Amino acid sequence: MEFADVLRKRRMVRSFTDEPVAPESVERILHAAQRGPSAGYSQGVEFVVVTDDEMRHRIAGGGLGDERLKKMGMQPFVSQARVHIVICTSPELYRQRYREPDKFRLREKVSDDDLWRVPYWYTDAGCAMMLMLLAAVDEGLAAGFMGLPPAHLRGLLGIPEEYIPIGVALIGHEAPDARQYNDIGVTTPKPKRPAKDVIHRGTW
Ligand SMILES: Cc1cc2nc3c(=O)[nH]c(=O)nc-3n(C[C@H](O)[C@H](O)[C@H](O)COP(=O)(O)O)c2cc1C
Repeated sequence: MEFADVLRKRRMVRSFTDEPVAPESVERILHAAQRGPSAGYSQGVEFVVVTDDEMRHRIAGGGLGDERLKKMGMQPFVSQARVHIVICTSPELYRQRYREPDKFRLREKVSDDDLWRVPYWYTDAGCAMMLMLLAAVDEGLAAGFMGLPPAHLRGLLGIPEEYIPIGVALIGHEAPDARQYNDIGVTTPKPKRPAKDVIHRGTW
């Protein structure tokens, strides 16, 4: 698919059909995620892929998951999505990487607080998420993202303490009614902020 079409088609989908997702598509989506950039090439982002029906329902079962969605009149789209990819990031891997010799000079001049004023482990996790969302569209699939409490995901999936699960990329086939469901709790879709308000040219 043309990149412009992938960009145009990409949206957070909140209603999926039962149709299974081809395993090869999942592998290509994961490959795309791994193509993402990482600060200092720290590669501190890791993934838990869940396709098991029961586990997907348990993931969706947190207080902020499908029960809440149903109460809001929405589809239980977390459990509906046939593939969950939990995106995890490790601050420690970034700290370690930036203590390596080629980064050491930088660290001597900059305090740890200053160095991590922008926590790159989150930017990199966001990059991986975006690549997966775009790759899903390229596969003719649909995707969404759901933030769920890290402790809930950690407990269910045995994610080690040093990793922060930032949320779940939900992948599946878009249901015919998907376009009806906008952002959670938002009944009227908000217009996109105009480019002139968000793009500052030259200076702010
Ligand atoms: C970091 C992040 C967290 C999000 N968390 C949720 C979420 O928990 N549930 C949800 O339905 N959408 C979530 N979204 C989707 C946004 O609501 C969505 O991207 C936004 O409304 C714009 O819609 P679009 O992506 O379809 O263009 C999240 C998006 C991002 C980037």
